[in-house]
Amino acid sequence: MNDTASEFQTTKELTDKYLLDLFNRYPVAFRYGVNELLFDQNNKQYIDFLSGVAVTNLGHSDPDIIEAIRTQIDKLMHTSNWFYSEEASKLAELLILNTFPGKVFLCNSGTEATEAAFKLARAYAEQKQIHDPVIISLHKSFHGRSVSGISLTGQKKLHTGFGRLLDGIEFVSPNNEEELVAAFERFAGRVVAFIAEPIIGESGIIPLTHGYMNLARELTLENEALLILDEIQTGFGRTGTMFAFETFGFSPDIMMLAKGLGSGFPIGALVVAEKYQDVLAKGTHGTTFGGNHLGAAIAYETIRIIQTRDILANVNSCSEIALSRLHQIKDKLKIVKEIRGKGLHIGVELTIPSRQVAELCLEKGLIVNATGDTVIRIMPALTISTQYLNEGLDILESVLTHFQNQ
Ligand SMILES: Cc1ncc(COP(=O)(O)O)c(C=O)c1O
Repeated sequence: MNDTASEFQTTKELTDKYLLDLFNRYPVAFRYGVNELLFDQNNKQYIDFLSGVAVTNLGHSDPDIIEAIRTQIDKLMHTSNWFYSEEASKLAELLILNTFPGKVFLCNSGTEATEAAFKLARAYAEQKQIHDPVIISLHKSFHGRSVSGISLTGQKKLHTGFGRLLDGIEFVSPNNEEELVAAFERFAGRVVAFIAEPIIGESGIIPLTHGYMNLARELTLENEALLILDEIQTGFGRTGTMFAFETFGFSPDIMMLAKGLGSGFPIGALVVAEKYQDVLAKGTHGTTFGGNHLGAAIAYETIRIIQTRDILANVNSCSEIALSRLHQIKDKLKIVKEIRGKGLHIGVELTIPSRQVAELCLEKGLIVNATGDTVIRIMPALTISTQYLNEGLDILESVLTHFQNQ
């Protein structure tokens, strides 16, 4: 065994021995990254169409992000939310200026943003003296792995094995307007919130239609229920606008954010519209790490970069290239059933299991995500070059052709 092969072997053995066996890992360990490329312990190059699951939206090792980290760690990393923080206050202002009037709660992950949204919805129910409140969520949705996260998630396979989940959550089918109207009617006077991802991610990229979202807005307004958008995956340019809700023509009451906000540093946020900004009262929610000096400085720089470089233009031009090439591939190969998505948040639905496709892509130097059993999810850095976008699509096409011809 050469040195690098034994290095990987050691990493694998330590992982297997000491990390809980929760993930179906691919046999590779990355050592460093440069924008849309990752390199493993053998220095093999991979084109990254996963971005750490829509996290490293600005690619790997962005020099301005590195500079922001260096500058901040030289000053201060962490104090406490019991004190004022210049970095957190500036980040909150920037988030509000880019979303809708209101206030922000900073936390560490998407799941924690979900938890805060859930507690806020329950506190809102208390305020309205609704004793058996209902939150409407969507089948196929994903909102995180805590108990409130899986309770709100519309996937049975994630519900089992943990005893009783939180009650008062009802599921309806995405984009089914009759079911949505019926749910609001059935639970009239009890619905306190409707929660949805604008594009359902983990179940295979299912965009909610504008008609459906507008109906959800009407029904939530009529019923004085909160419209909660989970933009944890779609936020920060992923779908071609800063946030996916911008194309709906209305803003939500509550928005959950994480992933791309920190360019790889764990940070999440809950944006709460003015009308509801006092629902969570002082002392009823909190966090030790959330929005610490370092995380807030990185997130601030992340948003500043998206705004000042032509990132969204690159998303939209690369999206056109990717969608048009994927449609051509679909026309050629019967195993490609459907192409869905927006911006650089694209799903390729196959007639075969997607994991084997992702594995062969990896062998050939392309990282894609297999999700929803038969979907390949494509989420490269928003800064990807057309050269590597096309090279990645070439690899995907050759792998799909291989399975087509089997
Ligand atoms: C839409 C959505 N909501 C919530 C989460 C949970 O976020 P985290 O893994 O940061 O806790 C995810 C993560 O994949 C997600 O995609």
